[in-house]
Amino acid sequence: MGKKLTDKVTWVGKIDWELKSFHGNEYSTSRGSSYNSYLIRDEKVVLIDTVWQPYDKEFVSRLKKEIDLKSIDYIIMNHNEIDHSGALVELMREIPDTPIYCTKNGAKIIKGHYHQDWNFVTVKTGDTLDIGESKLVFVEAPMLHWPDSMFTYMTGENILFSNDAFGQHYATESLYNDAADEAELYQEAIKYYANILTPFSKFVTKKIGEVLSLKLPLSMICTSHGVIWKDNPAQIIEQYLIWADDYQENQITLVYDTMWNSTRKMAEAIASGIEEADPNVTVKLFNTSKEDKNDVITEIFKSKGILVGSPTINGGHSYSIAGLLEMVAGLKMKNKKAAAFGSYGWGGEAVKQLTEKLKNAGFEVEDDGVRTMWVPDCQELDSLKEYGKRIVELFGK
Ligand code: FEO
Repeated sequence: MGKKLTDKVTWVGKIDWELKSFHGNEYSTSRGSSYNSYLIRDEKVVLIDTVWQPYDKEFVSRLKKEIDLKSIDYIIMNHNEIDHSGALVELMREIPDTPIYCTKNGAKIIKGHYHQDWNFVTVKTGDTLDIGESKLVFVEAPMLHWPDSMFTYMTGENILFSNDAFGQHYATESLYNDAADEAELYQEAIKYYANILTPFSKFVTKKIGEVLSLKLPLSMICTSHGVIWKDNPAQIIEQYLIWADDYQENQITLVYDTMWNSTRKMAEAIASGIEEADPNVTVKLFNTSKEDKNDVITEIFKSKGILVGSPTINGGHSYSIAGLLEMVAGLKMKNKKAAAFGSYGWGGEAVKQLTEKLKNAGFEVEDDGVRTMWVPDCQELDSLKEYGKRIVELFGK
């Protein structure tokens, strides 16, 4: 059942090709995911993390084929969100006294989820556990991405078990990064960073600096989702430092919803003005009622500026735009400019509302936005094109 990574380390997780949404419906997983769990066999036997609860029985029965559960000396829980701790109840039924190593917050979260008083051993940064030839070194990583998160480093094998950090929701049978489709892998990695880790970028930079200063040799990064970084594992660390540094590409993204295509026509006219004024900028348009929200957020993450459009509906704006802006506000993106646009028949409140929401979400908004009454005519489309040229000046070349 397991896949041997080294003489001492075996992958014992679950690849979930069927997963199409995660965190309820907050995160789309069109390429599936995996819940990676690892078994270490040194003089002591150690299990690192488990899998999501729906696969708990399958996990335990396959683990039994790999090893006598009673020979597991320690369980390490790097992070206790249910996709990793979900099989603990089933596992601990068999080995109730086995110590569970985790952070102090980890013990609280496990108790909060499962209401069990198992044998918790809480660890802090720098604590170690001798397991024979190798030693496990614990590094707390709070808010990467939960308060309980930590990394475990295995000496000798030089493996960093990073849990969610450096992961992707990406199902792959071959496990290793160099066997994966590189374009797909990086698309899933940036989507994961943009949608999960963006609010914690400051912690990402600080923690990576702290780990790099230890100058630990690194042969593999064993994440809890997606590939194991074996070929040049430092590449994803370097990439995280770039993403964490208020990342942007030379891209302007227009996101809009539309009822009778007036706001869509506005978006297209503005986009043509942007493209004419700066042929080097990448311009992308997304109708939020038709696109995957997490893919749109990834494109916003990559942008230096965004334009958000909605018609006025019942004195408000469209629900798909409202939902997207709620998600974007939580992600606390920095160093991005924005403006609003939209069509209306009467009232026309939407543009002002969107402008306020964008400001409150931390975007730099230096323009009151633009509105069109009913359907834009040729003259208005020309003005919108001119507005697009103005946006190029506002957002910077
Ligand atoms: Fe993969 Fe934060 O759980």
